[in-house]
Amino acid sequence: MNHIQIDLNRTLGPINRDIFGGFAEHLGRCIYGGIYEPGSPFADEHGFRTDVLDALRRLRMPVIRYPGGNFVSGYRWRDGVGPREERPARTDLAWGALETNHFGTNEFITFCRKLGTEPYIAVNCGDGDMREARDWVEYCNGTKNTALVNLRREHGYEEPHRVKYWGIGNEVDGPWQIGFKTPEEYARALTEFGKAMRWVDPSIKLLASAVSLWDGDFVERAQLILEQAGDQIDYMALHWYVDNHANDFARFMTVSELIEERLAAYEGLIRALRLDNAIKRPIHIAVDEWNVWYRTHPVFGNDLNNLEEIYNLEDALVVAMHLNAFIRHARSVQMANIAQIVNVIAPIFTRPDGLVLQTIFYPFELYSRTCGQIALDVAWRGDTFSAGDYTGVRTLDVSATYDEQRRQIALYVVNRSETDALETTVSLLDARFAGPARLSVINGPDIKAENTFAAPDQVTLREQEIALDGHTWTAVFEPHSVTALVCPVA
Ligand code: AHR
Repeated sequence: MNHIQIDLNRTLGPINRDIFGGFAEHLGRCIYGGIYEPGSPFADEHGFRTDVLDALRRLRMPVIRYPGGNFVSGYRWRDGVGPREERPARTDLAWGALETNHFGTNEFITFCRKLGTEPYIAVNCGDGDMREARDWVEYCNGTKNTALVNLRREHGYEEPHRVKYWGIGNEVDGPWQIGFKTPEEYARALTEFGKAMRWVDPSIKLLASAVSLWDGDFVERAQLILEQAGDQIDYMALHWYVDNHANDFARFMTVSELIEERLAAYEGLIRALRLDNAIKRPIHIAVDEWNVWYRTHPVFGNDLNNLEEIYNLEDALVVAMHLNAFIRHARSVQMANIAQIVNVIAPIFTRPDGLVLQTIFYPFELYSRTCGQIALDVAWRGDTFSAGDYTGVRTLDVSATYDEQRRQIALYVVNRSETDALETTVSLLDARFAGPARLSVINGPDIKAENTFAAPDQVTLREQEIALDGHTWTAVFEPHSVTALVCPVA
């Protein structure tokens, strides 16, 4: 028997909805053939695919990061503005592709506004300089009568774009990056980029490229970045991708422990360094690239294949575990961006004649739609399993939120057993269920089930209303499933 106990008084703090952010890079068919495809029967007047926009709207992403990724470390933003026929085509060295620059800053902002999402721009801190970075801020956000602001006006954008989030570089700790930097080099560059960008627009929020190489020098990097630029930084950006290369389901399901370790370690690091350096500015964590990614990874000997990963049910469970972790770490994780949004390691997969919602689409949509504003410190115990480096891992992975206005809770449960339905008592302390409640379950025939054009609904969401009353609900969580219970409480 498993037990989950929810106490509305045990709160972890407000949840920043930016944890449901996304990421779009000039890579493969993410932009071209994904969100932008002029000439497609689905294209609107801007060339954006309306079927993709509709699917993205279901994900309710409050923020989208752009234009890379590795791509940004060789990108010249000026190539992507102004009359399209005058924009130069370039070689993208990060992905060995031809970049037409037909989609650039203004198209991205227009796309974001259509979606109702905040743009988050990463600047080139690879082979780009701080002049280029600060000019980009001015071009986007400036209001004075300067050459750059007038250039934006000439391009048809009278009003400033008011881009709030700016990242300085991408994965600068990785030798695969154009302009890879030692901790000292990055701390120095970041300090100067950040200073100049903030002088152009003091209202912007800055994200430092903190860790992507977790077996590298991430502690030293954090120390140098925060010692030198602690008063400039709003977020330390972390990246990770997880995999099931060993084809070991139980081991894959322990990814929650890895996420906990990384978040807890980084929270501690930020706290210690803020204290040590008397940094007054709050510094948050942004996991601004995360997902499952391994099948189409070039280092594993496949073709690059444009990173068009096809996801299965076990990947959807892992995505749900990430969202549980971000909710449980709501105090520190104030932004997270699933990488990416369309075609490239993404929840949405297009062809010229339509699209498929991949398995990972469903947990993301479910959490984003139902998540309350306050994270609860939920307690749970019961069955455990051991795999890989971890022993005694609870078979259920759980988080819960509270919506004060609606007086309703949302409980999220991932059952990581491949075979067992888990009977569980869910108790409310100091409150009672005041149904009707909505029960949503994501599941499929087996852990390897995928959604394809031929069979698009192998893994989907089922919903039903259930009557709930009293302090305890006895639930049965299906094997290999994600369940959400949204219920009013009194
Ligand atoms: O999202 C794909 C790539 O993964 C990004 O370009 C890079 O930042 C990361 O290594």
